[in-house]
Amino acid sequence: MTAQQHHASTPRNPARRLGEYRTFFTGAVRNPREVGAATPTSAAVAATVAQVVPTTGAPVVLELGPGTGSLSSGIRERLPAGARHIGIELVDEMVAHLRENAPWMEVVHGDAGDLVPLLAERGVDQVDAVISSIPWSLLDDPDQARILDEVVKALAPRGAFTALTYVSAERSSGGRRFRKRLEETFDEVLTLTTWRNLPPILHYICRRPLDRTIG
Ligand SMILES: C[S@@+](CC[C@H](N)C(=O)[O-])C[C@H]1O[C@@H](n2cnc3c(N)ncnc32)[C@H](O)[C@@H]1O
Repeated sequence: MTAQQHHASTPRNPARRLGEYRTFFTGAVRNPREVGAATPTSAAVAATVAQVVPTTGAPVVLELGPGTGSLSSGIRERLPAGARHIGIELVDEMVAHLRENAPWMEVVHGDAGDLVPLLAERGVDQVDAVISSIPWSLLDDPDQARILDEVVKALAPRGAFTALTYVSAERSSGGRRFRKRLEETFDEVLTLTTWRNLPPILHYICRRPLDRTIG
């Protein structure tokens, strides 16, 4: 893809950005619990998230809940040639938007809780990074467990898993439950805050699932 085509697929111009916001908002009104936000996340969040994306080799990066793709361009910019970027998205409007505006991403219309069979259909059994922005703190306990179990099954031993929540959701019962689950699941759980987002975002960056810690 040429630089020009790349810019055409990156929602930086105002009309494209407006279209992105409209799609996101419509999707959020129709599916409030699934989307869990009124607007896409900011470029500052995308820049932080992209840091876990491998820049060498032929990595496979999995995005859970890409929405209208506000994190996706930053992921793509770091990926080396030969990498795969797969996005699993539940909501129809978001899937249609991504297929039109992010043709370089392998967009799968499905549930993150089925990620292992969805990846297997595409010949993938291991991923190097999972970037998730599904509304974890709104999920009930069985759904948090179900999706996280699938992540652990697919994550390469040295891979990284990231999740986003609003800072304000950290102390909710769902937010506390999620953090506890992460600490029980991974050997390393780092947190970072992006203040340049409304509302501010808490990032979890997790490595080494405890049931198969290396060495
Ligand atoms: C808070 S939005 C984040 C969207 C985008 N990544 C961003 O940062 O602006 C959450 C997204 O996750 C999607 N989602 C929620 N539950 C999902 C699930 N179980 N599987 C796949 N996508 C899901 C929603 O449809 C929505 O697009």
